Amino acid sequence: MTPAAVYLDANASTPLSREVMAEMMPALAELFANPSSVHKPGQDARALVDLARERCARALGCAPRDVIFTSGGTESDALAILGSRPGKVVTTAVEHPAVSGACASASECVRVPVFGSGELDLDALRRALPGASLCSVMAANNETGVIFPLREIAAMCRDYGIPLHVDAVQAAGKMPLDFPWDLLTLSAHKISGPGASASCATASRLPRARSLVHAWRVRPRCGSAIH
Ligand SMILES: Cc1ncc(COP(=O)(O)O)c(C=O)c1O
Repeated sequence: MTPAAVYLDANASTPLSREVMAEMMPALAELFANPSSVHKPGQDARALVDLARERCARALGCAPRDVIFTSGGTESDALAILGSRPGKVVTTAVEHPAVSGACASASECVRVPVFGSGELDLDALRRALPGASLCSVMAANNETGVIFPLREIAAMCRDYGIPLHVDAVQAAGKMPLDFPWDLLTLSAHKISGPGASASCATASRLPRARSLVHAWRVRPRCGSAIH
């Protein structure tokens, strides 16, 4: 990019911040070992992953064991949605393909419409929820910027005892994540973290959703780097 050019597409990706780069350099240069290895270099790398997990958990208000690092928001969405093996999933008509694609694999998927303004039809959501085993909605839309009323949505899910997955990829770093959630997706490269190997957190406060996601976690797909 020429010095005169100004990059304004921060919803698609952000440059790595100097602070993050400074934190990462020792890890990239020296702590390269596989954190699952039993030898000292591996265990040193593991300690750093655990520290990162604790920091994320503190920021999100959940337990460290409920933070799972994946390769990006897309994988985190898939893990949250498919890891809980939902029967009927309720989502919205305007989700990112990462969510809409994963929801399409559920045995039943109801896509709640939005109005012309981009706001969610909450009456339609309430009608769709009975019988669902998961509700998956985004916090902020990647194209319109519309912010969904997560507190109201979470209250409805609670009324029906349905776990709520929130794709907060576009919201993190721009607004407080101060709404109730059971599963949450974040993506590092949208908030000045590393690209490509971006880490994400999927966390759950609901024992059922947690055990299903964790069951998936201990049997990661071949080639994926879930720690
Ligand atoms: C709302 C939303 N969810 C999920 C994703 C996927 O995130 P990632 O690029 O980290 O896979 C994006 C990326 O643009 C997004 O905007």
